[in-house]
Amino acid sequence: MAVALVVAAGQGERLGSERPKALVSLGGRPMWEWSAVALRATPTIEEIIVALPPGVSALPGVRCVTGGAVRSDSVRNALAAAPEGADPILIHDAARPLVTPELIVAVLAGLAGVDAAIAAAPVTDTTKECDEEQLVLRTLDRSRLWAVQTPQVFRRAALERALSLPYEEVAKATDEAALVERHGGRVRVVAAPRENLKVTTPLDLLVAEQLLAARAAD
Ligand code: CTP
Ligand code: MG
Repeated sequence: MAVALVVAAGQGERLGSERPKALVSLGGRPMWEWSAVALRATPTIEEIIVALPPGVSALPGVRCVTGGAVRSDSVRNALAAAPEGADPILIHDAARPLVTPELIVAVLAGLAGVDAAIAAAPVTDTTKECDEEQLVLRTLDRSRLWAVQTPQVFRRAALERALSLPYEEVAKATDEAALVERHGGRVRVVAAPRENLKVTTPLDLLVAEQLLAARAAD
C-alpha cells in the first residue's frame, strides 16, 4: 500500500512572504493543495498525509498533521500517522506544486529492485566546484549530474533506517535519499521535467503561476 507524505510546514524564508510558503496563494489556491490534488488523482496512492503549519484546514481525502522545526521532523510526524502496512512511502515537497500523476507513477515504478527512487532533471548549466574563496577547484562532468527533486519514493524499512540515524545528521540532510545513499542504500534517479520546479524565491513563484495558467488553458 503506497502512502504519500507531503511536507508543507516550512517558513519559506527565501520567498519572503508573510505567511508560510505552502499557504501562499498560487493559481487561486494555497500552494500545498496542488500537490495534494495531483496525489489524489494518482490511483496507486492510497493515502495522503500532509505536514502543515498549525491550524490549517484539510482537503477531502487528505490527512493533516502538524509539521516540525526542520524538514525531517515534518517527515517523521507525517510518517508516524501512516498505517502500519504502508510501504512504499512517497515523500513530496509542497514547494513543488507542478508535480503530475505521470511523474508520481514513473517514480513509483523506478523503485523496483532498489531502496529509493527519486525524481531528478539533467543539469543544464555547466557546474563547477569552488573553495571558500570562490576559486574554482574543478569543473564537474555535466553528463553525469542530476538536479534532484521530489517525489522521492522509499522502501519503508530503508526510510525508517535513514530517519533513525543520529538526529543531527538527519536534521542536516536536505533530502532523505542522501541518508539512504550514505548508508549503503541503492537510490535510482528517474528522469523528471524541469517544470517540476521548487518554489524557493519570488521568481520561482512567478514562473509557477505562468506554468499553471498555461496548463489550465490546455
Ligand atoms: N518543510 C517542512 N518543515 C520544515 C521545513 C521545510 O515541512 N520545518 C518543507 C517545506 O514546506 C517545503 C519542503 O520542506 O515544502 C522543502 O523545503 P524548502 O523549499 O526549503 O522550504 P522552506 O524551508 O519553507 O523554505 P526556506 O528554506 O526558504 O525557509
Ligand atoms: Mg528550507
